[in-house]
Parts: sequence; structure tokens; C-alpha cells
Amino acid sequence: MANDTASYAAGPIGVFDSGYGGLTILDKIRRRLPQYEYLYLGDNARAPYGVRSFDVVYDFTLQAVKYLFSRGCQLVILACNTASAKALRSIQQNDLPTIDPTRRVLGVIRPTVEKIGEITRNGNIGIFGTPGTIQSRSYDMEIEKMYGGRFKTFGQECPLWVPLVESQEADGPGADYFVKKYTDALLAQCPDIDSVILGCTHYPLIAPKIRQYMPPGITIVEQGAIVADSLADYLRRHPEMECRCRRGGTATYLTTENATRFGSMATLFLHTPVTATHIPL
Ligand code: DGL
Repeated sequence: MANDTASYAAGPIGVFDSGYGGLTILDKIRRRLPQYEYLYLGDNARAPYGVRSFDVVYDFTLQAVKYLFSRGCQLVILACNTASAKALRSIQQNDLPTIDPTRRVLGVIRPTVEKIGEITRNGNIGIFGTPGTIQSRSYDMEIEKMYGGRFKTFGQECPLWVPLVESQEADGPGADYFVKKYTDALLAQCPDIDSVILGCTHYPLIAPKIRQYMPPGITIVEQGAIVADSLADYLRRHPEMECRCRRGGTATYLTTENATRFGSMATLFLHTPVTATHIPL
């Protein structure tokens, strides 16, 4: 009986990112699914993840997932492409069966790839991402798997965009140079792309500048609403998990860096007052 109770425990939906980027996903998830309780964790002290090795991203992500589980989360969203690219599969296949086979960890790459088929018209798809995400070729492989070679993908690493966002320089004049540098580099790979995936959850925070330097006919694909719709669909198809997601309409924010700084940055990004708590990982 005790076990039954434990297996049906409910908790907040965990949302994890290396830093502030996942807030762009949480924001859209909360608009789509306001009824649940959310626990956000930003590993700001160790961001950016995008330039780190596979093993390090996997270790950091697993620590974060275990921490969110320890706080009662039954479902964790990796609101981070780098973590989704480098850690999700191992966590799902190797770690969850031993930690707790009833809990779930979901990522952001697959929902985005599912959607891109409806968006592209000529099949030439650009992807902006961190070096880790682009070098993993996760998007290319997932698109190939889902659409069987009908589309061409062009990945562009943008190693300086996350540091610009994390250091609050995304709107500053210095950002223009690095936005133009990577948008030009993508267009040089293929001038004929018709859509580009912002394959890093930090990039919506620099999207106004990205738009400025991309030709107007190109669809810029942000992930927030896509991931939110996909989560809503997942919960509809999985009532056994839906009933383990606690209701309450609240969000709690945790960071591995300074809580005051996180709170003021998150307040700027979410346009609502945010108070954060520091936790060690
Ligand atoms: N927001 C993350 C992503 O979607 C990570 C960026 C980073 O820490 O480099 O890839």
C-alpha cells in the first residue's frame, strides 16, 4: 500500500536549463497549461553548456534531473537543446530505469522537428544552435529519421549568443556584430533556406536582432509555443502522468548562481516579478 501511494505521488513539473533560456519555454508552457505547478532550475553558475563536452553536459544534466526528482517532480522538461542533444537519450534509456522507471524526462528537439515539416516549403532548413547542439547533429539526424531525406539541413554554431544573453548584452550594440556574423554564415551555407530553427532556448531573447539580419521571407521558428503544445498533447495522451502533475498555478525559481541576480533577470525576461532561491548542485 505504501508503494502504491509513493508511485502515485504528485509534484511540480520540473523545467531545467543551463541558465535563463528555459524561461522562454516555461513562459509559453505556463500560458498554455496555467493550471499546473512548476519548478524551474537554471544552472547559471555553470552556464554556458554549449561549449562543454558530451560527458560534462550529461553529468550536469543528470545532477539537475536528480535534484528536481528529489523535490518531487515526476516529469522534467529539459528546456535546453544542448542538454536534450547530449544527455536526454542516456538519461531516458540508462538512468531512468534505475532511478525511477515511472518518472519521465522530455526534451525540446523532437517536438521542434515534428513541427518543422508543417513550416518548411522548399525543404531547406537552417538551424542556429550552440556548438554542442550543432556538432551533435541531433537535429539533422532527427529530421532525417522523421522525414526520410526529403529535407536538407544547414546547422550554424553561434557560440557567442548565449554569453550575450547571460550577460544582459542581447540588446546592446555589441550584439549586432555577432548576430550578423552568424546569420551571414548560415546564409553563406545556403542562401535558399526558407525557415530557421532557433535551436537554443536562449535565442528568443536575442530574436529581434536575429530578425533584423535575416531576409524577411525566412520563417524564424521559436520553440516555446511548440514545446508547450507538445507537452499539452503528451499530458492528454498520458493520463497516468497528468494526474501526477500537481495543480496550483504557481512557479518556483531555483538557480545555482546568485538568487538576486537571477530574480532580476527573470523579472526582465518574464515581465513579472520573480523571486529566486539559490541551490547548490
Ligand atoms: N539554452 C540552452 C540551449 O537551448 C543552452 C545554452 C548554453 O548553456 O550554452 O541549448
